[in-house]
Amino acid sequence: MSIGHFRLWSSLVLSLVLWSNTITSDAAIGSGYLRKIREVNKLGPYLGIVVPNMFEMDPLLHSDRFVPDSRTTSLDIMGKRFRIGKVGNQKVILVMTGLSMLNAGITTELLLTLFSLEGVLHYGIAGNANPNLQIGDVTIPEYWAHSGLWNWQRFGSGPNNPLALESNGDFTREIGYLRFANYSITPSSDNFLNNVWYQPEEIFTVDGSPEVREHIFKVPVDSRYLEVAKMVEVIILYNFMKQILGCFKYHQDWDFYQNTSLSKKKKIQTC
Ligand SMILES: *[C@@H]1O[C@H](CO)[C@@H](O)[C@H](O)[C@H]1NC(C)=O
Ligand SMILES: *[C@@H]1O[C@H](CO)[C@@H](O)[C@H](O)[C@H]1NC(C)=O
Repeated sequence: MSIGHFRLWSSLVLSLVLWSNTITSDAAIGSGYLRKIREVNKLGPYLGIVVPNMFEMDPLLHSDRFVPDSRTTSLDIMGKRFRIGKVGNQKVILVMTGLSMLNAGITTELLLTLFSLEGVLHYGIAGNANPNLQIGDVTIPEYWAHSGLWNWQRFGSGPNNPLALESNGDFTREIGYLRFANYSITPSSDNFLNNVWYQPEEIFTVDGSPEVREHIFKVPVDSRYLEVAKMVEVIILYNFMKQILGCFKYHQDWDFYQNTSLSKKKKIQTC
């Protein structure tokens, strides 16, 4: 057999192997799984609940309020477990992301891509840097931001110097910056780490043009959820006060609660 023939045979064998691989593989998610996902979606839409770690998810899993679905309790896809069930009357799909924005992003995207959802809810432990807030205080953000995208400014440059690639429209000095020297334990006027400037996220929206980026820093919370969250605050505080004090004096903060449909079902006891 000549070299030419051998090459022809080997490339034929190689293409046969590749061809048979494409028949047996279903990209990342197997067809068996896709069938199960379709079955789950027939009973949707669901509320997606996204939780960073087991420590935060356990209370919900062990609560009487969470009832796993009798047909499909969970689906394990790409290292994530999607738990299907109900919280009260609300159909939910619960997923633990793992820490970091990358994990949160990948998992939420997977959840949105695979399942029929009507909304996504995230809960978890929150820290804060405001000394006026104490443990047990409830804060309801109207906006959230990912403040982890930075432009690190070269030592020697300051707020009056453009950032690298700023002229291209890639980076901005509009949001603000953190100056390392301001956080030295021993007083110092400078620090080689210099400044980091906060940057908005580059986003590619579902209804935007592919490859045409948009920028956003402060992301508004869905107004419907914000209203619901305000009621949660009042209910938590109301139950807390009732436990501690038995009853409480009327306060103008309760106006909001008085005006919600919840207050019609359950009259506030005041003393
Ligand atoms: C750094 O500290 C100085 C002096 O307290 C203050 O005026 C300045 O705003 C601070 N800069 C930043 C970026 O935190
Ligand atoms: C509650 O309703 C009353 C009467 O309609 C109104 O005057 C008041 O401003 C409302 N309070 C809030 C917090 O919405």
